Amino acid sequence: INTNEKGTGTSERFSSSKGFILAAIGSAVGLGNMWKFPYITGENGGAAFFLLFIACLVAVGLPVLLAELSIGRAGRGSAASSFVKAGGGRIWGKLGFISVIAPFLIMTFYILVAGWTLHYAVLSFSGQMTAGVDFDAQFVKFTGSYLPLVWAFVAMAIVALVVIKGISGGIEKFNKILIPGMLVLLVILMIRSITLPGAMEGVNFFLAPDFSKLTPEAGLVALGHAFFSLSLGMGTMITYGAFVDRNQSLGSATLAVGVGDLIYAFIAGLIIFPTTFAFGIDPSSGPGLVFVALPAAFSAMPLGWLFGGLFFVLLAIAALTSLVSLLQVPVTHAMEKWNWSRNNAVWIISLLIFLVSIPSALSMGLMKINIGERNFFDYVDFFASNWLLPIGGLIVTLFAGYFWKTAAKEAGLTTKWFRIWLFMLRYVAPILMIFVFLHSTGILKF
Ligand code: PFF
Repeated sequence: INTNEKGTGTSERFSSSKGFILAAIGSAVGLGNMWKFPYITGENGGAAFFLLFIACLVAVGLPVLLAELSIGRAGRGSAASSFVKAGGGRIWGKLGFISVIAPFLIMTFYILVAGWTLHYAVLSFSGQMTAGVDFDAQFVKFTGSYLPLVWAFVAMAIVALVVIKGISGGIEKFNKILIPGMLVLLVILMIRSITLPGAMEGVNFFLAPDFSKLTPEAGLVALGHAFFSLSLGMGTMITYGAFVDRNQSLGSATLAVGVGDLIYAFIAGLIIFPTTFAFGIDPSSGPGLVFVALPAAFSAMPLGWLFGGLFFVLLAIAALTSLVSLLQVPVTHAMEKWNWSRNNAVWIISLLIFLVSIPSALSMGLMKINIGERNFFDYVDFFASNWLLPIGGLIVTLFAGYFWKTAAKEAGLTTKWFRIWLFMLRYVAPILMIFVFLHSTGILKF
């Protein structure tokens, strides 16, 4: 297939079932698995929270994932037009457009963080992450400079160069190499971390079950994360679905992605906590955990530059394989709707993403760019993750649960499983998602 031919967007296909599943796992496994999942698990009751998270994945995440893949394959269009082509009224196409905007916004800050991981990989390999460095100050100085923009540009260019090669020639090949590669890195780092003296304390923090911490709030955190972690509500899985072969069982693909996402997140937890606890460092959340606490721990271990470097390479891969899935969403839309060639779509949209990421980068220190009480970076994250993502997810569940007449045929489930799926989509997922939405936007307070 000539990928530059106009309007051929969704006639491309993943070349194999394995390639498609690895690409979907690549989308799901991202920074969320590496820095958010371990932390929220440790904070909210360890193994008890882990079980709750699995329950959320099964009850809400997997049914919505299957719905997204099915809508995409039935419609074979963009995240917006697939609803209509799959048999929905035109209003669904308009609603679906939210899922074309959302990934664009997510990318504008996600590429910045991807850039940070590249910078830290270089810092580590070049021996600049050594004992005695004030890692807190180093991080503040770095994010308050222009350097993150240079790295974001590099990250964006890598993502664009992959997506420009198309579905099977670019995205699929990239993931086929990097997803197994990530597993190798995870296992090496896990062995290193759990064999450190004092590592067990970290394992305990991560996994010791504390059922008293399972509050309703913890439930909403688990649900929200199950959603983000499976890349739902962003049009990515609808878009990937549009390129999947007819004979692929979407049910088993859904299961494989769920299990893959869990395994990668679980191993990340077995790296992060044993490493920080072994050196008596307090694990903080989010960026502070990965860019301050962990560098301090790596700098204190023998061959720390090597393990630290590998860790940041791991993070970079996790981020980049998620980013390619995000970029494909607006690219598919532009190729289909505006008849752009793949080349033009990729370059124009990538450039726009980079431009919109500039105020985010500057708002981290160089300039005061606030929206409300949040800086620009945090605001875009907040708006996309807490508003657009649940709304996008709700549109999918309502469409598939109530309005889609051919759902059973497209999802390819047996009658029994179809009934269970429909029940989840109709009654369980939308109600829980409305709670997550009201809570994370601050409308509902406990
Ligand atoms: N699932 C990714 C993570 O856990 O980091 C993030 C993500 C990627 C969210 C793609 C949404 C998406 F469409």
